Amino acid sequence: MRLEGKVAIVTGAGQGIGKTYARRFLDEGARVAIVDIDAGRGESAAAELADSGEVAFVQADISAEESTENCVRQVVERFGQVDVLLNNAGIYYDMDYGDQSYEYLRQVFDINCYGAWLMSKAATPHLVERGGGSIINVSSTGAYLYVKNSPTEFSGISSYAYPWSKWGVVGLTKMSAGELGRWGIRVNCIAPGVTVSEATRKQVPEDRIAAITAMSALKRTLTPEDLTGTAVFFASEDSALVTGQMLCVDAGVVMPG
Ligand SMILES: NC(=O)c1ccc[n+]([C@@H]2O[C@H](COP(=O)([O-])OP(=O)(O)OC[C@H]3O[C@@H](n4cnc5c(N)ncnc54)[C@H](O)[C@@H]3O)[C@@H](O)[C@H]2O)c1
Repeated sequence: MRLEGKVAIVTGAGQGIGKTYARRFLDEGARVAIVDIDAGRGESAAAELADSGEVAFVQADISAEESTENCVRQVVERFGQVDVLLNNAGIYYDMDYGDQSYEYLRQVFDINCYGAWLMSKAATPHLVERGGGSIINVSSTGAYLYVKNSPTEFSGISSYAYPWSKWGVVGLTKMSAGELGRWGIRVNCIAPGVTVSEATRKQVPEDRIAAITAMSALKRTLTPEDLTGTAVFFASEDSALVTGQMLCVDAGVVMPG
């Protein structure tokens, strides 16, 4: 029960890895607000996890400022406080990798990058009021790697929307950790490797997942459960003096110096 007494917001917890973080946080004694843009996903996740502890679904679009403010207000009305914000929501399952337009690049940044900032902006006054807290951002090891089968003929610059937006999350982590530390707020970042979620089954061919597993030091394929220990570490007092850090959880593929 390492999160007993804490209230955690987990964005994008309607399915996949976010739902798994929410379940683990409940198991560790936290009360949890599941936030998702998709009401169907969010409501069924909250119903599924209701036996594990006190959980509520709040619908919000993390890329819309007013929605993020309403969301945090509803969480505080329901639970009375916020201690942990896990910025997990991102466009991944619904990502259209074929769309290389500027307009789509901006949409992806609005969700994957600026969404984490908007949620942080809405939650920080409440964390300050609590005398501190933990913000956990979610990047991707995809941010560290250039992976694309570029054509040999030049056909125009790509948008790099997904990995670039996830690299932006690392920048947000550093900057906000530096600024918010004086109020006892820690900001860290998890960069998962390819993890077998609904989204990955849709987006990544099986042979590619097998190739990444073969490349990994530990020869292990990640499941969402494999990421939750790191989230609990960052959310709990076990990491009381850890801030501004980015941790790759990928069975040993990307090893930043
Ligand atoms: N699965 C992987 O291999 C992997 C690897 C590295 C990083 N990640 C990151 O981990 C996170 C979760 O991954 P997943 O596999 O569970 O993805 P997913 O696409 O299944 O889940 C993302 C959730 O976010 C929600 N969401 C999307 N846009 C939103 C918005 N504007 N406002 C609120 N909610 C929104 C979706 O409805 C969905 O429930 C994502 O940020 C993803 O980029 C995943």
